[in-house]
Amino acid sequence: MSAAVIDGKAFAAGLRVRVAEYAATFEQSAGRKAGLAVVLVGEDPASQVYVASKGKATLECGMASFEYKLPDDTAQDDLIALVDQLNADPMVDGILVQLPLPRHLDEQAVVERIDPAKDVDGLTPVSTGRLALGLPGLVPCTPLGSLMLLKDRLGDLSGLDAVVIGRSILVGKPMAQLLLAQSCTVTIAHSRTKNLADVVRRADIVVAAVGRPEMVKGDWLKPGATVIDVGINRLPPTNDKPKGRLVGDVDFASAAAVAGAITPVPGGVGPMTIAVLLRNTLVAAHRNAGVPLADGAL
Ligand code: GUN
Repeated sequence: MSAAVIDGKAFAAGLRVRVAEYAATFEQSAGRKAGLAVVLVGEDPASQVYVASKGKATLECGMASFEYKLPDDTAQDDLIALVDQLNADPMVDGILVQLPLPRHLDEQAVVERIDPAKDVDGLTPVSTGRLALGLPGLVPCTPLGSLMLLKDRLGDLSGLDAVVIGRSILVGKPMAQLLLAQSCTVTIAHSRTKNLADVVRRADIVVAAVGRPEMVKGDWLKPGATVIDVGINRLPPTNDKPKGRLVGDVDFASAAAVAGAITPVPGGVGPMTIAVLLRNTLVAAHRNAGVPLADGAL
């Protein structure tokens, strides 16, 4: 292995310490804690784990956490009414509706209902539009966390060739916008891309967010490339690993032999997502309360 392993866990821990410091000074200035509301509909086990760890992390950095657990058969109108209630609640700075929602619910209508000032997931049309326009706003957590790791590793990204594999609303599209804003030359590749390996081989920066276990191989990479692996896939159980091994979208062993730097799975991008959610909540809190926050402070 020649690649440096990018320690997302350590970077996220540092960001959480900074968030906790700013959360304390926010509380002094605003006379209240910054608050994050997380809404979970139904019993999806993975979502339950994510929501519990978001709540715990929110409290740990000195912010208020409001958790709403609704039954699987919640009606669209009732969920919209809860979003309206949270939009109007002055103690709530950020609203996150955990996705995916049960199939009978209209996800887009629910997300669009969130006040953009509280859209800490960066998924509303206003947030998405502001990102595309290059205006300040709230940006989805996983791509922003990935960008922080890239800038920490590489410094100035301008002029670099970046390939984003995946075009999801949550990761691929906002990631491409963020890299473009850093003056990268950006290619968005996806399941219909021809000669994907050749496209990836041009890249100084590869962001893999496709949800296909170990798809990107070492011989697809330009030597020295920086690889951000957003995938979290559980392989089928084996005797060794009865729960199934967690792997990314990149074949770590072969990629690490060629790349200059690479994020591991777990311990790479994953821990950044919650840290950035806390960061976004605190940024929203400052704006909502009219408390100034220096540019780039967090
Ligand atoms: N489900 C998986 N990732 C996310 C995320 O970043 N935000 C929301 N709301 N739901 C998710």
